[in-house]
Amino acid sequence: MRGYLITNAFMRGGSFETMRRLFMEAAEKAGITLISKTNADFIGGVRCDADFALFYDKDIRLAMRLEQKGIRVFNSADAIAVCDDKTLTHLALDKAGLPQPEYVLCPHSFPGVGFGDMSFLREAGGILGWPMVIKEGCGSFGQQVYLATDEAQAKTLLQAIGEKPVVFQRFIRECAGRDERLFVVGGEVIAAITRENRQGDFRANVENGGHPQKYEPTREECDLAVSACRALGLDFGGVDILPSRQGPLLCEVNSNAHFGGLKQVTGVNPADHIISHIRRSL
Ligand SMILES: Nc1ncnc2c1ncn2[C@@H]1O[C@H](COP(=O)(O)OP(=O)(O)O)[C@@H](O)[C@H]1O
Ligand SMILES: [Mg+2]
Repeated sequence: MRGYLITNAFMRGGSFETMRRLFMEAAEKAGITLISKTNADFIGGVRCDADFALFYDKDIRLAMRLEQKGIRVFNSADAIAVCDDKTLTHLALDKAGLPQPEYVLCPHSFPGVGFGDMSFLREAGGILGWPMVIKEGCGSFGQQVYLATDEAQAKTLLQAIGEKPVVFQRFIRECAGRDERLFVVGGEVIAAITRENRQGDFRANVENGGHPQKYEPTREECDLAVSACRALGLDFGGVDILPSRQGPLLCEVNSNAHFGGLKQVTGVNPADHIISHIRRSL
């Protein structure tokens, strides 16, 4: 069995290199030939010389090309696309009837056109209350997630974000700085952590100062994480859950979750599980 590991050509080093290394080591242990490529290595075209591609990148167009050549891509191009944009994730999870924080989608505009007087922000605030979470559709590591205390701040934030897909979310106050990450592979939760930001930031991402701890998720949380991955068509994924007073809510789902921190505190290596899952699936 021979496959490509595809990572991004321009995001290198740090946690990205750790992910690449963990997958290469896991494949070697399993006796699978894994060839490390970047998304820039296919400029000359895609040859049909691999059984699969382990696609740890967001280059959805390249993932589609690989699929068009008959290569099985993990996760699939469609699944990566839906997870890459939180606005689309919300819609897909809603379709499956799964619980998530109440949200309002920002109306679409065009580059350079702006959002007029942004009066829709008042309406969104009326529905969701203040402060309100604002998320760019595409973003990672908490870097494109904001908390707006009032309408004026929301306007400033939206102006700075520009005309991209954006979602407004109810701020789950009791979860500020605290969430859970469940890692799902092949329809099973293989490991979980809680993350707590003790520096006063509402974002619990490890990359943002969140402190990871091993966690034993409840049956309800496991079922929710597995259902979310099924609804999004993911072979594997990192599911962020907010343990709200009304029960677990899906915060977001990652098709390419980095798991260095999770591996360290749980002793579980998702790379081994992902490689086994690929072998089983083929
Ligand atoms: N609605 C919300 N209420 C409270 N905290 C939130 C909410 N949405 C996100 N967060 C916090 O912000 C972090 C980052 O948000 P998330 O949607 O997971 O984006 P990213 O893709 O950047 O990880 C979450 O891990 C969580 O701690
Ligand atoms: Mg997240």
